[in-house]
Amino acid sequence: MYLKTLTLENFRCYEQTRIELPRGLVVVLGPNASGKTTLLEAVYLLATTTSPRSGPARAMVRHGQSWGRVTGVFERDGREVTISVTLGDPSGSRSGSKTVEVDGREVDSLREAIGRVQASLFWVGSLEVVKGSPSERRRFMNEAIGQTSARYLDDLARYRRALRQRNELLRSIRARGGSGSILAPWTRALVDAGVPIIEDRASFVRALAAEAAPMHLRLGAGAEELSVQYDPSVAAGSDLDAEDEFYQRLEETHEREVERGSTQVGPHRDDVILTVDGVDVRRFGSQGQQRTAALALTLAQASVARVRTETEPILLLDDCLSELDPARGAAMLDLSEDREQMIVTSACCPEHLAERLADAHVIDTGGELASCRPCRIPDIEGRNTESHHGP
Ligand SMILES: Nc1ncnc2c1ncn2[C@@H]1O[C@H](COP(=O)(O)OP(=O)(O)OP(=O)(O)O)[C@@H](O)[C@H]1O
Ligand SMILES: [Mg+2]
Repeated sequence: MYLKTLTLENFRCYEQTRIELPRGLVVVLGPNASGKTTLLEAVYLLATTTSPRSGPARAMVRHGQSWGRVTGVFERDGREVTISVTLGDPSGSRSGSKTVEVDGREVDSLREAIGRVQASLFWVGSLEVVKGSPSERRRFMNEAIGQTSARYLDDLARYRRALRQRNELLRSIRARGGSGSILAPWTRALVDAGVPIIEDRASFVRALAAEAAPMHLRLGAGAEELSVQYDPSVAAGSDLDAEDEFYQRLEETHEREVERGSTQVGPHRDDVILTVDGVDVRRFGSQGQQRTAALALTLAQASVARVRTETEPILLLDDCLSELDPARGAAMLDLSEDREQMIVTSACCPEHLAERLADAHVIDTGGELASCRPCRIPDIEGRNTESHHGP
């Protein structure tokens, strides 16, 4: 699938901008703070209905305005899909709201819109998947699986609700005493929602690992081998299935959970083990190793989504070129050859990649995007690439 047109209205630094994009490699070039990451953020918002950046939805609305909107026309299997996300309410009555329309029809729940469009994003926050706390890796799993399975999102919502209620009860038992039996309905709800989450994560990480290792090699990390392994809080043992195991572990940890006022085991304590040549890259990887591992995970996730949805996700790669060495940078750009669309941002055109970039479609955020200005990147042989966008 690919994005054909992107329209931004009052979206962060953009006032009114319409951009046409072709298939293949698209390079967004422009100085710092010119709106490159914002473009990728807009595409990601259309795919997932949320921003990768933290903060409330209204933070995406252009300062001084009461509403903003992003609209994308995508082509998927020869058919057009139009998605638009409106932040705030242009009529002024429901400020702070977020509405999503698919082909002009407002969807009842955001969940309905998720997964219509597949996109995989690599940006500075993706590094946290490798070097951040386990919660970052859980978030990565949740977003990746959620993009291809609405049922997973439902299980996750049920699990979070059960966990919250159960923890409240544990705190009340700690404060006022009481029998553990009042927990039973919430324990059951926790296990019922938790077991499919554990199974989905196990199968996702297996698929991810198979894609990530060759991707990591391809990115030019030489003979270094990336291994990705699910590290569940409740693992199905040899003679117990996940459900029995979950009940048993909750029972074993009951004293501690009352003492601490929180559930001690379950998918909310899962992690993913990442090693490069057997060394824990989460804690001991060099910056470059962590970056390459994070990039390999993003690309592997896109491959898993491609297999599961039979659709090629759009790859959104923010600011990768500047930090990768020449071989890794070239390997990354070469990936676009077998992808339907890959949108890459860069603050400058690295000289060693100029020839490779000369064939790409360029969007220049440094100029007035809205004024339909042709943009140029000189390459080492003096050729120019031109592209027109606007109005
Ligand atoms: N709600 C908003 N209203 C107006 N401007 C905003 C809003 N949110 C962010 N901005 C501004 O948008 C500009 C573009 O940000 P963006 O992160 O897209 O830049 P960038 O081109 O990716 O920069 P860099 O090369 O430094 O990564 C910034 O100057 C930022 O302050
Ligand atoms: Mg940026």
